[in-house]
Amino acid sequence: MTDIDSLLNKPEFPLSGRYDSDWVLDNQMGPNALWLVEWLLNALPLKSGMRVLDLGCGRSLTSIFMAREFGVQVWAADLWITPDHNWKRAEAAGVGNSVFPLRAEAHALPFPANFFDVVVSIDAYQYFGTDVLYLGYLSRFLRPEGYLGIVTPGLMQPITDVPEHLVRPQSNGKVFWEDECWSFKTPDWWLEHWSRSAGVTDVRVDTLRDGWRHWRDFEQVLEVSGKSVFPSDAEALDRDQGRYIGFVRAIARRTGTAGVNLYDPATGAQAGVDW
Ligand SMILES: C[S@@+](CC[C@H](N)C(=O)[O-])C[C@H]1O[C@@H](n2cnc3c(N)ncnc32)[C@H](O)[C@@H]1O
Repeated sequence: MTDIDSLLNKPEFPLSGRYDSDWVLDNQMGPNALWLVEWLLNALPLKSGMRVLDLGCGRSLTSIFMAREFGVQVWAADLWITPDHNWKRAEAAGVGNSVFPLRAEAHALPFPANFFDVVVSIDAYQYFGTDVLYLGYLSRFLRPEGYLGIVTPGLMQPITDVPEHLVRPQSNGKVFWEDECWSFKTPDWWLEHWSRSAGVTDVRVDTLRDGWRHWRDFEQVLEVSGKSVFPSDAEALDRDQGRYIGFVRAIARRTGTAGVNLYDPATGAQAGVDW
């Protein structure tokens, strides 16, 4: 086992540790997606044959992981990453028959209502899911009783101003906090946000123990391996020690209430409105 293998092999994430380090590092798009999805699935048991949407799957590491580990069928939907490459990755990983890659924008999902048993989203939901209208829309694609589970970077306590240590440049010049980080929310924020939706029930929200440390460790692995795409944030995460930055997990179950498709361009015509 190389140094990098052992750094990626953590007792908290035993399934993830079995995956090839180069494969994980070459396809990463942020904090180790396998660790995050393994944590999510501890609370969201998948059963063989289920239909799962992996929303914002990136390079589909998590889609391949779910298909391999749980025997589910995964629709691997992403905006920025071409399905051509995700298909090659799925085939190479031996799950070409159960991972179905597609390009999709989160507000224009090409699926029938009630189609999925489970929707998951790893390090992606913050890009679109903080909008109060979004959950009602997304929940319509779940069958009643189906589960939605997300993991996003989050705030461990509320802030009004950004803490100084997160805007102070690191020794590599990179500043951790960018405007996009305002999409990081506290567990209480997510609980309130989701509890307001009639489309879901049984909302549970928690944080990953030592999430900052896992994120920092992964940044350090990227530094050591020379496979970073962006300058490392390890120093800022180390300064923070989890006082503000970590990961939030939110899980909910769909109710019988069907969400309206507010983003369907035909909404006006269906409502009989002559716009
Ligand atoms: C930080 S990457 C994480 C990718 C992957 N889940 C992972 O953890 O490796 C965020 C992903 O969200 C996707 N995304 C962002 N906005 C989106 C949108 N409006 N619709 C669909 N996907 C979106 C991007 O295409 C990108 O791949």
